[in-house]
Amino acid sequence: MKPGNLLKVGLFLSVSGLIVGCAASPDYSGNTDSRWADFKSWTKITEGRTSTGDPTGLVSGVHKGREGYRDVYVNDIGLAVNQGTAPYNYPVGSVIVKEQFDDLEAFKAQKPTDLTIMVKLKNSDTPDAKNWGWSAGYDSKLEEVNAFCSGCHSVATKTDFVFTNEDFLKKFH
Ligand code: HEC
Repeated sequence: MKPGNLLKVGLFLSVSGLIVGCAASPDYSGNTDSRWADFKSWTKITEGRTSTGDPTGLVSGVHKGREGYRDVYVNDIGLAVNQGTAPYNYPVGSVIVKEQFDDLEAFKAQKPTDLTIMVKLKNSDTPDAKNWGWSAGYDSKLEEVNAFCSGCHSVATKTDFVFTNEDFLKKFH
């Protein structure tokens, strides 16, 4: 390729990267569900324990895949259980938010692409997918049934459908 064309391609890639980057960054200031509107003030359980790669072998096509970076926030209601030991049984009102970054660069720049959210809807002695609601974005509605999300999270049935807890972080990050 001629140097001129190379420059054009480079320019195109950086401009489209900018557009995609800007369009993709979520805006956490809008009106949203009060259950997770202020998640940024919660405990970031991945603080200092960078979550990336694919320790479970499950995220290849979701949650930004192996190259993705993830930060997980838990509200005060769910925190003690999340930071405790098994059996993990989250109380109703627990909310877990995962902020997703496309890659290391986006993570370093703190430019997330989107969120996924889990809300515990009822107390139960036994783990059940139906106890959780699921949302795929800051401004998205909570769905009480989402077979896509709960189907895969059922791999973590023993830990109440939540992968990222203290044991998981100690083991993998
Ligand atoms: C194909 C499997 C799969 C699907 C589908 C999936 N997840 Fe996950 N999810 C995972 C795995 C694995 C993790 C832990 C990732 C890690 O850090 O290694 C995770 C982590 C999370 C977390 C952080 C808490 C935790 O369990 O670690 C939230 C919140 C979450 N997912 C929500 C969702 C929502 C909402 C959907 C549907 C829109 C969804 N997930 C779909 C596999 C999946």
